[in-house]
Parts: sequence; structure tokens; C-alpha cells
Amino acid sequence: MLYVTDDQRMLIMISVGSLLLLLPILPCAGQPFSDYYGGKTVKGAIGSSINFTWTILRPFTRVEWGLAVTPYAFETPPRLLVSYFKGNPLLVTPPAAYTGRVSGKNTGSQVSFILRNLRTSDERLYGCEVSDTSNGDDIPSFDSVTLVVEGRGNYFVVISCHHI
Ligand SMILES: *[C@@H]1O[C@H](CO)[C@@H](O)[C@H](O)[C@H]1NC(C)=O
Repeated sequence: MLYVTDDQRMLIMISVGSLLLLLPILPCAGQPFSDYYGGKTVKGAIGSSINFTWTILRPFTRVEWGLAVTPYAFETPPRLLVSYFKGNPLLVTPPAAYTGRVSGKNTGSQVSFILRNLRTSDERLYGCEVSDTSNGDDIPSFDSVTLVVEGRGNYFVVISCHHI
């Protein structure tokens, strides 16, 4: 038989109570984004623009968008397209194929990246990395999205020959 004094009973109730209070917070503790892709596929038509948007829940100073090699990492060395530090654009030289076609916007916790004038060769995995450079122990958060570029459809091309 286990005897519990009133003091101990009170302590147990307080402990269980505080655990229950923590429960709704715990599942969110590791969630870095509220709007993200998780590797999902996004489609865009050739020649159109695409806007990738992330809403960041965790503390961050730097956010980078670039070519991903896996759902968890950029290509090495990183081939970045657009980057922000404390909300200001950082000078990034994108791979030549993307010159003049990339831009972005970072206001508060929302960051969006635009790729214009889509080409078939843009079809690939892209990543967004968020990190807190003011925290030496920071583990960056990474999210990825697959872009599929759709053609304008199938056409029968009629070639007519004229004899001159
Ligand atoms: C991209 O889309 C988001 C969500 O609709 C919008 O808030 C943001 O302004 C857009 N970004 C740009 C650069 O137009």
C-alpha cells in the first residue's frame, strides 16, 4: 500500500498540471515554418513567374534561397539565388542561367522568392535555409520544393512548302 501525504498529493497535482499546460506548446517547439513546402511539387508554365513563400516561426537573421541537391541541403558549394540578412538583401551572384530572373522580398517573418520567365531547365529542387547567425549553436532549418515547368501543350506543327 502506498501512502501519500497531502503535501505530496499537492506536489503531484502541480506537476501533472504543468505538464498538461506544456502539451500544446511541445509539438510546436521544433517547427521552424508555418508556410512551407516539405518537398512538395509546384507547377509553373513556361514563360510565367513563380512565387515561393515561406513564413518563418523560429528566430532568424539569415534566409537563403538556392539550388538544393537533397530535401535537406543546398548543392555544394551553395548555389544561391537570393539571400536576406536581417531583412536586407545580400549580394549574391546566382548561377548564370538565373541572371536577371530572380528576386525576393523579406518582411518580418515572411519571405518570398520570385523566379521569372520560367524555362524547362528550371525544373528541379529548390531550397530555403533559415539560420540565426547571432547564435553560435544555431542549427539551420531547411525546406525544399520541387518546381515542375509545364509546356504550353502539344501542338501539331504544320509546315507548308511553297515552290518559288
Ligand atoms: C509572393 O506571394 C506572397 C503571398 O501571396 C505575397 O505576400 C508576396 O508579396 C509575393 N511576393 C512578391 C515578391 O510579389
